[in-house]
Amino acid sequence: SSPSAPAPLETAPPGFYLERVLTVHHWTDRLFSFTCTRDPRFRFVAGQFAMIGLMVEGKPLVRAYSLVSPPWEETLEFLSIKVQDGPLTSRLQHITPGDGVLIGRKATGTLLIENLLPGGTLWLFATGTGLAPFLSLIRDPETYDRFDRVVVVHTVRQVAELAYRELISTDLPQHELLGELARDKLVYYPSVTRESFPNQGRVTTLVESGRLCADLGLPPISPERDRAMLCGSEAMNADMRVLLEHRGFTEGANNRPATFVVEKAFVTK
Ligand code: A2P
Repeated sequence: SSPSAPAPLETAPPGFYLERVLTVHHWTDRLFSFTCTRDPRFRFVAGQFAMIGLMVEGKPLVRAYSLVSPPWEETLEFLSIKVQDGPLTSRLQHITPGDGVLIGRKATGTLLIENLLPGGTLWLFATGTGLAPFLSLIRDPETYDRFDRVVVVHTVRQVAELAYRELISTDLPQHELLGELARDKLVYYPSVTRESFPNQGRVTTLVESGRLCADLGLPPISPERDRAMLCGSEAMNADMRVLLEHRGFTEGANNRPATFVVEKAFVTK
């Protein structure tokens, strides 16, 4: 088969479910998302990731992908970059409805509500596809039970890369079951670094300058009342980690809750 066409799948290798692509949405030439069927045995918690991929030359070729969809949804959704010479994404970007995809049976990860100590405001800081786990978390009612306010800060290079902007700012506040919680507690702060946009600049600069909190009418971010999750490039995660630690935040992990948690937005190839 040609390198651009995913090979047909008939049976899943051990450790994977074989699911069917339902929909594909291309956001830009660098970014797409897709939904697929969900095996009823596949369980996960909002914020987790699983190994996702395709059979290539008779073997599973998989990468870690955060679940975009909330745990209660019947289907699964994922957000991916497209890299023309990336081993997986050069192929995955060509999937169409009906194609088979592999879903690893076990979901895992640290971006869990239970890994944070109780607090007032939950800050979800994402760059690029790092938004994915937060899309699951902001559609999990548990998130709103635990926090008074949930702020999604999504920074991208170009306006077109603000994926799910409509979902967060329009659809979710009108959602039949989650709408009231979202209207009460959810705040969305998109920012763009390489085009003009009302909110411009890197998240690190926006936090350090005080602009982010000033724009939202909130007090400076502090470990006394705020909790944070980071999900972006390694550089963003590293810089934000330093920034938070300087303010007295400490990093949590599974079974060791603290005031912030971090995960890479994994797939880069
Ligand atoms: P910039 O345009 O200034 O590089 P990418 O598409 O490369 O993953 O980047 C996504 C977003 O993350 C971009 O807006 C980029 O800003 C920003 N970014 C990259 N590195 C950092 C960093 N070290 N700290 C904060 N934001 C960053």
